[in-house]
Amino acid sequence: MTAPLVSVRDLVVRYGDRVVSAVPELDVRPGQCVAVVGESGSGKSTLLLAVLGLLTGTAARVEGSVLIGGTDILRAGEHAARDLRGSAISLVLQSPQGSLNPTMRLGRLLDLALRRHGIRGAEARSRTTEALDAVRLPADIVRRYPHQVSGGQAQRFAIATAVALGAPVIAADEPTSALDVTVQAEVMGVLDRLRREQGTALLFVSHDLALVSTVADHIVVMKDGAVLDAGDVDHVLHRSTVPYTRALLDAVPTLGGPR
Ligand SMILES: Nc1ncnc2c1ncn2[C@@H]1O[C@H](COP(=O)(O)OP(=O)(O)OP(=O)(O)O)[C@@H](O)[C@H]1O
Ligand SMILES: [Mg+2]
Repeated sequence: MTAPLVSVRDLVVRYGDRVVSAVPELDVRPGQCVAVVGESGSGKSTLLLAVLGLLTGTAARVEGSVLIGGTDILRAGEHAARDLRGSAISLVLQSPQGSLNPTMRLGRLLDLALRRHGIRGAEARSRTTEALDAVRLPADIVRRYPHQVSGGQAQRFAIATAVALGAPVIAADEPTSALDVTVQAEVMGVLDRLRREQGTALLFVSHDLALVSTVADHIVVMKDGAVLDAGDVDHVLHRSTVPYTRALLDAVPTLGGPR
């Protein structure tokens, strides 16, 4: 088996005395889609923030290790963590429009992201062209401001930024839940194609088990900050004996039913 791109061990995140996200073991390998599912407040976003080293220096107490390309992002220091974010793992949020600077055109935003990683000039231009093409956005979208694109286009632009930076892993926190169903399918299609054509791995967080079941290879089920179930998609969907997983499956008409 290929070496993992992301390797989480004994991760525990606390606010005060309360454990809000505890994940003993989670690996993401090249081209793999690992999905974390669970109800609101189960600790999914906290897990992603910890994996990206974004809880360092906050009120959260974080234990354990998160190896990204062999470096523990929890102990790497702010400078090294910032280098890893973008080039080794990129984060795509639920609503990218809200996190895009409204005063800058998309081209400028992408250019700044590339510059932060030392990529400029002809290299930046060719990466931009390829990344926009990979997410099926027209090249002239770079001239638009964030408010001049749709939610689906903004989400594809966020994914294009990750692609341009060359991140082998995209971490996505409910990337389609702010989008309507047809646009949702389009964005999932883009992520799936990146995986097939470029081998991009995905660490995908969602409360939507039906959606997750269509893309994941490996599913982690969380509740109240704890992992209740984990395994390959076939196991979790068809052979899990964990009552909470069964209840989640039964809540989705197309997944539950006779077994
Ligand atoms: N900065 C914080 N300070 C204190 N508690 C926090 C903080 N951030 C998150 N929490 C708590 O941690 C728990 C997990 O939150 P988290 O956002 O990770 O859940 P989630 O699974 O992503 O939920 P949702 O599906 O609603 O996005 C929640 O109970 C939340 O209130
Ligand atoms: Mg969340």
